[in-house]
Amino acid sequence: MTVALASPPLLNLVGAGRVGRTLARLWQRAGVVQVQAVLARQPESAAQAVAVIGAGRAVDRLAALPPAELWLLAVPDSQIASVAAALAAAGTTPAIAWHASGFLPASEAAPLQAAGWSVASTHPALSFADVDQACAQFPGTLCALEGDAAAVERARDAFRAIGGQCVDLAAADKPLYHAAAVFASNFAPVLQAVAAGLWRDVGLPAERAEALAAGFLQRAAANLQALGPRGALTGPAARGDTRVLAEQGAALAAHDPVLGQAYAALSELAGRLARDGHTGGPRQN
Ligand SMILES: NC(=O)c1ccc[n+]([C@@H]2O[C@H](COP(=O)([O-])OP(=O)(O)OC[C@H]3O[C@@H](n4cnc5c(N)ncnc54)[C@H](OP(=O)(O)O)[C@@H]3O)[C@@H](O)[C@H]2O)c1
Repeated sequence: MTVALASPPLLNLVGAGRVGRTLARLWQRAGVVQVQAVLARQPESAAQAVAVIGAGRAVDRLAALPPAELWLLAVPDSQIASVAAALAAAGTTPAIAWHASGFLPASEAAPLQAAGWSVASTHPALSFADVDQACAQFPGTLCALEGDAAAVERARDAFRAIGGQCVDLAAADKPLYHAAAVFASNFAPVLQAVAAGLWRDVGLPAERAEALAAGFLQRAAANLQALGPRGALTGPAARGDTRVLAEQGAALAAHDPVLGQAYAALSELAGRLARDGHTGGPRQN
């Protein structure tokens, strides 16, 4: 007797950038979904995504997307509401839809919810700078889920199957949750660029300045891993060198007012960490 194996559910991908390509490729390779149709803003981008994912077919407009059990709306945050409204207005068969915003709740796709879809926000806390790298780094990634029960449970199964560590998040907590990811990930390159820029401003060659900044970052990461944030903290704020803080802050503000503000705010947080062991906020006190 032969047992028929169930085929994986069909997934339509709307928005085929870094996150869409990575998740669709991981799910396709793990047999979690069968990628069916891929839509981006530019038709050539959708075609490239199909090649990167290794499955599906590119379509050039929303109306050309066939029904599917699962939909990933991996468009920029600013496009989630309009894509959801267009899908609902097109009368597409209600299904499960996930968006990937860390900041916006599931209800950003309210028109789909009103049309009978089950919607969840599903945020993998990873920097998706490059598809190959993100695929390799994905196992162990925290995935924050929020929204309608059916969509959340399907997302939990799908992310777990590719090594995600799922947690439930309240919609009201998303802004602070996502700000934490911005601090943890997005600001590191900014701080590196600021440091290298200042060293260039005082005459170091660009390559030297960038290497110096990168070396500090590598050693800081090693110290952080070994000692934690408070133990790894050095510098004038940690030492309580108030004269250095004041005069250095003034020199920086004269050089560039925005850098002066950033220096003052980060020095205040460094002082709190050195003194209190945390950077503050009502839930930490
Ligand atoms: N990047 C990260 O590290 C990261 C991490 C976690 C979550 N997220 C979230 O993931 C989502 C996608 O981010 P991303 O970094 O993957 O963005 P991205 O690389 O800029 O890709 C966005 C994709 O959406 C397509 N697109 C834009 N407007 C569209 C529309 N109206 N209809 C159909 N497709 C449209 C773009 O088409 P073209 O390719 O033709 O331009 C592109 O393929 C966002 O909600 C973001 O907050 C990002």
